[in-house]
Amino acid sequence: MTTLTSTWTEGDGACPASTLGRAYRPLEHDGFYDFIAKAQAEEPVFFSEAIRYWVVTRRADVLAVLADPDSFSAAITLAPVHPFPPEVVAALRDGGFSFQPTLVNSDASVHSRLRPKAQRFLNAKRYATYADRIRAIVRDHIAAIGEAPRVDLVAALTYEVPAKVLALLLGIEDISPRQIKVWADHRLGMTFGVLEGDELAEAARQLLDYWKYCERLVADRQDNPRDDYASMLLDLRGGDDGVLTITDVVGLVFGVMVAGHETTTNAAGNLIHALLTDRDQWERLKADPTLIPNAVEEGLRHSSSVVNWRRRTTRPVTVGGVDIPEGANVLISLAGANNDPEVFENPRSFDVGRENVKDHVAFGKGRHFCLGAPLARLEITIILEELLAAFPDMTLAPGFQPAWVPTVTFRGPLSLEVLPRGGAMTTGEPA
Ligand code: HEM
Repeated sequence: MTTLTSTWTEGDGACPASTLGRAYRPLEHDGFYDFIAKAQAEEPVFFSEAIRYWVVTRRADVLAVLADPDSFSAAITLAPVHPFPPEVVAALRDGGFSFQPTLVNSDASVHSRLRPKAQRFLNAKRYATYADRIRAIVRDHIAAIGEAPRVDLVAALTYEVPAKVLALLLGIEDISPRQIKVWADHRLGMTFGVLEGDELAEAARQLLDYWKYCERLVADRQDNPRDDYASMLLDLRGGDDGVLTITDVVGLVFGVMVAGHETTTNAAGNLIHALLTDRDQWERLKADPTLIPNAVEEGLRHSSSVVNWRRRTTRPVTVGGVDIPEGANVLISLAGANNDPEVFENPRSFDVGRENVKDHVAFGKGRHFCLGAPLARLEITIILEELLAAFPDMTLAPGFQPAWVPTVTFRGPLSLEVLPRGGAMTTGEPA
């Protein structure tokens, strides 16, 4: 597992990191939740020397940050955690990539112009129309597992299904879902991970391919409108740049092509891993499937797939009693908020019947609240229903220990080895 080292330099002045702040290793999975619990108890807002962010870990403070978009700008949310070298920025710019803010990283007037238009398509009513097709996709994947005695559920199911669902929303038929995944993996690695040198250059090339694909898609829908997201945005645009520019439309399509599947892949993997690790909870679902929706929420809470999100201060602020200067980077620990013992009793235990589970903030809160939340819930619910029906005796493969997605923000198992028809169980710390 990659370890971030200190990026602090003499020229930056006195480093505000405490001992706890210096010990923070944002990419490491082992001990991740223990560290958050320690921070919540001892120093709930601390400065991380490794990434040079102020880290906010308690739910009340996280909510205060999210509730104040004027003091905490979203403009930083898609900026690389480790700034790109100038030659990479130049290559992206020369290649035609737009750094213009889109939905998730825009503030005030830009966001309020874009969001209602995106929401005309990205909403629960529209998502419900995909339910049968999503179930068919999931069933196909489960059928392909066949009689295999052992299978990696990420490779066989959770990696591709969300990309196939996204392809439905975007009317994509000319590239494989795997291509969408590969592009997004590069995008997330370069933005939220620690890519350098050739790896970063390759990721930048992939990012340009990804952007250009979105440009071609939007150009195609201008000539051949269909029942999909880009066509609807173009229809709303009505040729008027004051409503939406073509770059706005490409940016919105590109944004969903990143936001709309990695998160769900990880959330589904985390949930299945947690349920099979605490096998009593799997049995409870078998005995009472009406608990499935609550179990999905408990998965999002207990093993959040977006563990951290980001903001940048626009003025000097005080968070949890700690003064933070203007122009500072803030890492909002959604995983911390979702595991705050002040709100969630015994937070590291996985309880499919947890009563206040919906108080989690896995999808954020406030102005930028996730527009895909109902779709993610639908997909994960269907995946769980179909797995329980097909493989009621499923167990983790003996000795299996997952490796985790190596980014500051997204967390999920890279593989999930199971015995679909049961066998010896392993125990271990849930995700
Ligand atoms: C389990 C799966 C998912 C998780 C955990 C998740 C989480 C998040 C989070 C934390 C935010 C930022 C909220 C904030 O800044 O306050 C966000 C925004 C967003 N998400 Fe999701 N998301 C998921 C799935 C999806 C899906 C499936 C889609 C699209 C179909 C989607 C589309 C978006 C969009 C468009 C935004 C930007 C909203 C805005 O800025 O107004 N997400 N999501």
